[in-house]
Amino acid sequence: MNILYKIENISKTYTSKLGENLLVLDDISLDIHKNDFISIIGASGSGKSTLLNILATIDEPDSGKLIYFDNNKQLELLKLNDKEISQQRNTKFGFIFQFHYLLPEFTALENVMMPAIIAGAKKETSKQKAEALLDRVDMTNRATHKPDEMSGGEQQRISIARSLINEPEIIFADEPTGNLDELNSKNIVNLLKELQSEKQLTIITATHSQEIAQNSKTIYTIKDKKLV
Ligand SMILES: Nc1ncnc2c1ncn2[C@@H]1O[C@H](COP(=O)(O)OP(=O)(O)O)[C@@H](O)[C@H]1O
Ligand SMILES: [Mg+2]
Repeated sequence: MNILYKIENISKTYTSKLGENLLVLDDISLDIHKNDFISIIGASGSGKSTLLNILATIDEPDSGKLIYFDNNKQLELLKLNDKEISQQRNTKFGFIFQFHYLLPEFTALENVMMPAIIAGAKKETSKQKAEALLDRVDMTNRATHKPDEMSGGEQQRISIARSLINEPEIIFADEPTGNLDELNSKNIVNLLKELQSEKQLTIITATHSQEIAQNSKTIYTIKDKKLV
């Protein structure tokens, strides 16, 4: 399999308000292959979200390298400027979170369109793509509804559609079924699996869920600040 994203020697320390240092990730390296479905598991507080946020360039490590393989180019993400990193994030990465972060004042359709508009796409094109994605996640009949008019599972389907609008290569999903019941969790996991093979996606989840872990191709555990 082809390497898509190479993580080298990442460490991360948080400093508390009292000035105490807390080492969370200690010299973590990882090769992410194209088309993989990776689950990162580990106890609460073990550093799953921290690692995911670093991979997604939402948070910065103290040291280490993030090397992204973009066709024949190798991009060192931690060396890019703000504009280049936003470009990478907006076009190559998609995000799904436990608490969906849909914008409450916008409809489902508008929420799905939003990342495309932000990336500079035309409104009409964005709308057409968003409609196709809503259809794909079986939410066409909710296009004009606002997030608080939908259930948790429905909101998560909208979040998934939103994460796909810019045709990303990697989806980062932090506890994507964390606040869903068993049936809804199963449905979301199945949807992610289907989309992964349909769209040749690489998916990286941080999860407590056995359901997700069992359905992924590769499982890593964070234990004692290391990835095993
Ligand atoms: N912004 C922060 N400042 C200080 N400590 C943090 C911060 N974010 C997370 N932590 C600490 O880092 C550790 C790992 O957190 P996290 O990555 O959220 O774990 P997980 O997602 O596995 O539950 C925890 O001990 C947490 O309290
Ligand atoms: Mg977490």
